[in-house]
Amino acid sequence: MTTSLAQRIELWPVERLVPYARNPRTHSPEQVAQIAASIAEFGFNNPVLVDSAAGVIAGHGRLQAARLLGLSEVPVIVLDHLDENQRRAYLLADNRLSELAGWDNELLALELKDLSDAGFDATLAGFDTKEIEAYLASLEPETPEAEQAGKEEIPEPPSQAITQPGDSWLVGPHRVLCGDCRDREMVGRQFGKQKANLVVTSPPYATQREYDPASGFQPIPPDEYVGWYRDVASSIEGMLARDGSYFLNIKEHAEDGQRHLYVKKLVLAHVEQWGWRFVDEFCWRKTDNGVPGGWSNRFKNAWEPVFHFCRQAEIKFHPFAVGHVSEDCFDYSPNNPKSTSGSGLLGTGARGNAAGRPGAEDGDGRFKGIARPSNVIEAKTESSQGSHSAPFPRALVEFFVKAFSDAGDVVFDPFLGSGTTIAAAHVHGRVGCGLELSPAYCDVILRRLSDLTGQEPQLEATGQTLSQVAAARGIPAEQLHNPKARDSRRIQHNGPAPFYGSRKASLPAIYPRSHPWAVPVARASGAARFFGAKSDDSRTANVHAVAALPRPLSGVNQDAILHQRCDSDVGPGCPGHQRFH
Ligand SMILES: C[S@@+](CC[C@H](N)C(=O)[O-])C[C@H]1O[C@@H](n2cnc3c(N)ncnc32)[C@H](O)[C@@H]1O
Repeated sequence: MTTSLAQRIELWPVERLVPYARNPRTHSPEQVAQIAASIAEFGFNNPVLVDSAAGVIAGHGRLQAARLLGLSEVPVIVLDHLDENQRRAYLLADNRLSELAGWDNELLALELKDLSDAGFDATLAGFDTKEIEAYLASLEPETPEAEQAGKEEIPEPPSQAITQPGDSWLVGPHRVLCGDCRDREMVGRQFGKQKANLVVTSPPYATQREYDPASGFQPIPPDEYVGWYRDVASSIEGMLARDGSYFLNIKEHAEDGQRHLYVKKLVLAHVEQWGWRFVDEFCWRKTDNGVPGGWSNRFKNAWEPVFHFCRQAEIKFHPFAVGHVSEDCFDYSPNNPKSTSGSGLLGTGARGNAAGRPGAEDGDGRFKGIARPSNVIEAKTESSQGSHSAPFPRALVEFFVKAFSDAGDVVFDPFLGSGTTIAAAHVHGRVGCGLELSPAYCDVILRRLSDLTGQEPQLEATGQTLSQVAAARGIPAEQLHNPKARDSRRIQHNGPAPFYGSRKASLPAIYPRSHPWAVPVARASGAARFFGAKSDDSRTANVHAVAALPRPLSGVNQDAILHQRCDSDVGPGCPGHQRFH
């Protein structure tokens, strides 16, 4: 055992030091620059270790950094108590032993936070900005508003809207315009100055839903959908910052026992006709297991796609902002000999630095850290939408807001519906804006945002508040508050919505054609059993039957039933669709 202690630090000219020709440790130019920045900030506090012939044993990176900084001398410690083999082994040990240390992520995050709070540039500690962001994000407590996720109640649409087409409303920093998002020129005029960093949207389905008939919205035949959407994509393109991302959530309905293909064609058109880059397809898995089932050739739907587009390869991306602490983290390892994908991430075996190391065990290279999530997002379907058509859950939008935008960024939704995108933007300190064609749904958005932000909406043109505008337009005061229980005047649907498909052929056997939704209860329950639903699942399978019943079914939670979304061949003639999609 060597108990020798270094006795002194000496200053030697940089030119005198001789790097070890067989040094297996590498230093990229970026890392040398980082070491140089650290020396410039903290001083040369870690001497270079040398033998008495000036051969470098440890500190090759520091020596390169000294050269980069133009230093003429560096501190050295001469290790003349080591023999040749010990020197060579120590050169390895000096690097390897520090590599084997771990991090207490919570303490590290706290340290980085304190440094950031003190205005200190924590990148000088060798962490890059993204890593620091991730650690800081891991400390962020849920805001009180974010904690309300799921508890937020979406107000009912009124029968007499305060909003009129063309109105532009401000709610705190957020902006809601009642208008047609397909009018690119108008959208550019209204929003163009504040480029959107992120777009998250769920456009109307082709013919599957009836929205607010008073808005002038006409269901779009599936084979005209791509043509109809061209102007939407164009408006979005005009709004989106170059490094922004655009997320599109829509799933085709099925008809006549098969799914439409208009969404597939829409994705292709984005890339092949409109010049978008198709980054990826997310799966939104509905953790409530979605919807009733009872079709003769397919199962119930429990997921929807979310397509990710952008204009250029380089985009804002903060994967760790949606990360979670995991014991099973590993570094990217492109040289992993067991990876068959070439990504270094798949395959088995040792990871990161351990990948490819002779003798490495399969578990080597894993550590506790912040893991990146996959492209499957689990979120319960929105259950508080009242009679609004097809809102997506706020949690789904929040994922994209956190991962693809920064605080203060602008988040745009051309089809606001009930305003979920702006609500998600708000709870994460972003600025939300967008359009909604229906004046009544605009009122829903204004009330929702007013509840969430505590700010009263103001008409941009006049500065009047929502109540002042209501009074000026002769709208009864009680419509202003319009809580679900008190407002009986909802958007009136005028019977079955227009339908472009072949309804006749589309009805599955268990739904009698004359009254597609008036299914005898026993029959629907039987269907639920037949299709393998669990006993407590049978309520979802019964949604069509219950919607037509004159009184609540005994032993069945009707509210729970009515809040399920369904996805049916029956199409928009089903009251469940009109009310709950
Ligand atoms: C599927 S919903 C959006 C739901 C929304 N994601 C939410 O969470 O509430 C589609 C909305 O687009 C609106 N809409 C339809 N055509 C529009 C257009 N041309 N411009 C703006 N909004 C439109 C409909 O009135 C409907 O509210």
